[in-house]
Amino acid sequence: MTVVRRIRPDEGATLRDVRLAALADAPSAFGSTYARESVQTAEDWAERARAGSAGSERATFFAVGNDGIVGLVGGYRPEPSSSRVELVSMWTHPAARRRGVGRLLVDAVLDWARTCGARAVELWVTRGNVGAEDLYRAMGFVDAGDRQPLPSDPSKEEVRMRVDL
Ligand SMILES: CC(C)(COP(=O)(O)OP(=O)(O)OC[C@H]1O[C@@H](n2cnc3c(N)ncnc32)[C@H](O)[C@@H]1OP(=O)(O)O)[C@@H](O)C(=O)NCCC(=O)NCCS
Repeated sequence: MTVVRRIRPDEGATLRDVRLAALADAPSAFGSTYARESVQTAEDWAERARAGSAGSERATFFAVGNDGIVGLVGGYRPEPSSSRVELVSMWTHPAARRRGVGRLLVDAVLDWARTCGARAVELWVTRGNVGAEDLYRAMGFVDAGDRQPLPSDPSKEEVRMRVDL
């Protein structure tokens, strides 16, 4: 069975391992890069874990299966107390895909956003990432119309998706 739970404040090293695995596995899915994040210090990761572990500005969630962590997602408010939440860092371990982990992770961010009083959740998805686009559509997201170059590879394009809560 897989459960999704919020990160704990002392899980910086675990967050590093999972996030770097995601960046190595699916570089074209993310705006950031393995090269940029692999040089972050233990204190940087500790601070990221602490920031995502509590409160209504930022949240990090792990999907945990029988053999350990199988997924990651984050949410944050781009401006303090914004009514909008940005969903980021979505990743399911390749061995755990197509078993509903992605749905659980998106649900965790939607629930957190609702609890915090947000009115919408938005995200960027790389054009052509059909699995992710299908997942988000299945969870109620629609094309919000905006486009931008993928920051980690400007030859690719990102599509903005949004769901109203
Ligand atoms: C996209 C991703 C997070 C999906 O995770 P997952 O745990 O496999 O997703 P789920 O099992 O919850 O899938 C839910 C639904 O999404 C859709 N979906 C997921 N992966 C799909 C794929 N590869 N192709 C088509 N549809 C897909 C399906 O509708 C699926 O329902 P179904 O299995 O009943 O048909 C995962 O493939 C991944 O980590 N990819 C690499 C990183 C990435 O692209 N992140 C997104 C950044 S925006």
